[in-house]
Amino acid sequence: MYKQIGILTGGGDAPGLNAVIRAVVRTAVGEFDMKVIGIEDSFEGILGTPRTVSLTTKSVSGILPRGGTILGTRNKGSFVKMVDGTPHFPEMPIGEALANLDILEIEALIVLGGEGTLAIAEQFHKRGFPVIGVPKTIDNDLAATEFTFGFMTAIDIATEALDRLHTTAASHDRVMILEVMGRNTGWIALHAGLAGSADVILIPEIPFSFDSLVRKVLDRESSGSRFTNIVVAEGALEVGKGEMYSDASALRLGGIGEYVRRRVGELTDKESRCVVLGHLQRGGSPNAFDRMLGTNFGACAVRALANGEVGKMVALQAGTVITVPISDACSAIKTVPINGQLVRSARDIGISFAAPNESDF
Ligand code: F6P
Repeated sequence: MYKQIGILTGGGDAPGLNAVIRAVVRTAVGEFDMKVIGIEDSFEGILGTPRTVSLTTKSVSGILPRGGTILGTRNKGSFVKMVDGTPHFPEMPIGEALANLDILEIEALIVLGGEGTLAIAEQFHKRGFPVIGVPKTIDNDLAATEFTFGFMTAIDIATEALDRLHTTAASHDRVMILEVMGRNTGWIALHAGLAGSADVILIPEIPFSFDSLVRKVLDRESSGSRFTNIVVAEGALEVGKGEMYSDASALRLGGIGEYVRRRVGELTDKESRCVVLGHLQRGGSPNAFDRMLGTNFGACAVRALANGEVGKMVALQAGTVITVPISDACSAIKTVPINGQLVRSARDIGISFAAPNESDF
């Protein structure tokens, strides 16, 4: 049994990180008599003079509803170098980190992160260091788990935004466009679009055409609904075109919402407005589901370590938390199945994805 374990949070923050940290500490200390060291600012905090904090049941008291992460996070760092779009993991920072973990007497790590962070965690595992991953991202794009914590809170926020846009759209007979996050997947757009009664949902998995989009706006117009609400994922693609970036050098997605607004305005002569929801989807208190999932993931991660599991990630499958190889989470991102039930149900109730052949569905 480990005497002392470390915990860190990496990548973009997500509501529920503190719920996991709290559950890890309470389980490790209370159930398995381990000590827990928090590592600040992701893996970077292990390098140089390590930035660590001793976590106790008392020090994590009250953090369950708090947004962000008490440990800090980074989504860039020295552990990964991208070469021609492929990640490489240089030996040196990992070597230094392993030596520092030894000095700190940290015998195992619990790593909270998305695909990028978990890929670094896997490198530690490959070098014989015990690691358990906890899947985190508001995008819900991690393979091997049905849900990541943070996702449901992001949907709540996007849904509320759609509700609010709905009333102003109807009052002014406008086309309102809400751009949401999700990287190269449409999970947030699809779920929020269903929950927030969007008329059109644009997701990367179903490239859209303006012909189809305009047809939907005009069909609504002629049936007496003189406004249209569109939710667009930041990674959505127009047929035959690439993704749009707000900062191409940093590969930061963004701008598709404003582009759609401008084109729809030109093509329909209707007034249109765009709202980019941005980091409001990531900040603030987690909802009940994310607090519950984060707590369950945290406790199960410690139990997995205590049971001698390594190189694994906790994952939700069929409503139960299980463990899967970390490599399963990093091998591919989970995209929206375009023939799946949610897309089918959305179409059944009249939501358009603005596919060129939408009328075939
Ligand atoms: O992966 C989470 C996410 O919020 C994405 O939806 C978004 O594209 C990205 O992170 C933005 O990250 P940041 O602003 O931290 O660079």
